[in-house]
Amino acid sequence: MVEWGHLPRSIALYLQVSFWRSAARVGQRLRRIKQFPWAVAALAFLPSPGGASEDDAASGRVLYEQHCSLCHGMNGDGGRGPTLRRTVLEHAANASDIALIVKQGIPPEMPEGWYYSERDLANLAAYVYALGHSGETPLPGDPARGEVVFAESGCAGCHIVDGKGNGYGPDLSNVGSGRGVDRLRETLLDPETSLASDFLLVEAVTEAGATIRGIRRNEDTLTIQIQDSKGQFYSLPKAQLRSLERLRGATPMPSYRESLSKQLLDDLVSYLATRRRSP
Ligand code: HEC
Ligand code: HEC
Repeated sequence: MVEWGHLPRSIALYLQVSFWRSAARVGQRLRRIKQFPWAVAALAFLPSPGGASEDDAASGRVLYEQHCSLCHGMNGDGGRGPTLRRTVLEHAANASDIALIVKQGIPPEMPEGWYYSERDLANLAAYVYALGHSGETPLPGDPARGEVVFAESGCAGCHIVDGKGNGYGPDLSNVGSGRGVDRLRETLLDPETSLASDFLLVEAVTEAGATIRGIRRNEDTLTIQIQDSKGQFYSLPKAQLRSLERLRGATPMPSYRESLSKQLLDDLVSYLATRRRSP
């Protein structure tokens, strides 16, 4: 499977776009082929993948690994998309809801899958449903101790949990709904490899020569809104900036690779993984 995260962002984006374009082209070609009765007749003799008449999670898994894992993780632990290893999903209560989501997508981030056959949709849904119900990744440590690690490591200096802390980084009250155990660990060890797709650190130099570095909170064609690490907001007209640099792949979040032992890290990951939206 392709690991987009290891590629420079622009290349990864290009590959993803061309991936979806070629997927769309294959779909169009299949639709065209269906207009010829002989092609339909020939297709009827091909063994259908999975063969069985029941929804087949094993066939769904093959499709999942090819088409979904690049955003939801090979083991369903999350990536650009949320972790699917949860019994309760936000947009889907059962397998047929999942099939509908896969077909329609969730704009703007989750692409639609109009090119899947009903059978493929049912297989995918069966696999994703099983992912969520076949036991989650076991917690590697103790969530209660992890809460203490969280408090002692200065995380609240940049993160809010249940209304407490500073909101420079994202609110972590429900972070376990979006990120599974493996991806949480990755975030703490190598934060720059697991940035949310809309996250961007920028550095602007004003006409007067002041440098403002911070998180992009909003941007349109004329202005950009930046929040710096002290919490200060700036709304800057782009035309009046001397320079505006997009620090792609950069984050103010430090790595905890050196400062936390494996045990403390396991506890912290466990605490974060249990922070979920309640059903
Ligand atoms: C380009 C990235 C991307 C791809 C590829 C992708 N998804 Fe998603 N998916 C997302 C994002 C982002 C969300 C969250 C959308 C939101 O909540 O606004 C999501 C949401 C979902 C949800 C709903 C989760 C919930 O909590 O309700 C399901 C189910 C899902 N995806 C299944 C799949 C399946 C199955 C595939 C492959 C056929 C797939 N996705 C391919 C990005 C992707
Ligand atoms: C100096 C500020 C800062 C500190 C300190 C900090 N973080 Fe972060 N963190 C961020 C920012 C900014 C992001 C968003 C960009 C990114 O993913 O790196 C983030 C992202 C995250 C994410 C991913 C959240 C998501 O949904 O995208 C997790 C999980 C996280 N931090 C946990 C922690 C924990 C646990 C600690 C303490 C051990 C910590 N952070 C300390 C700034 C910080």
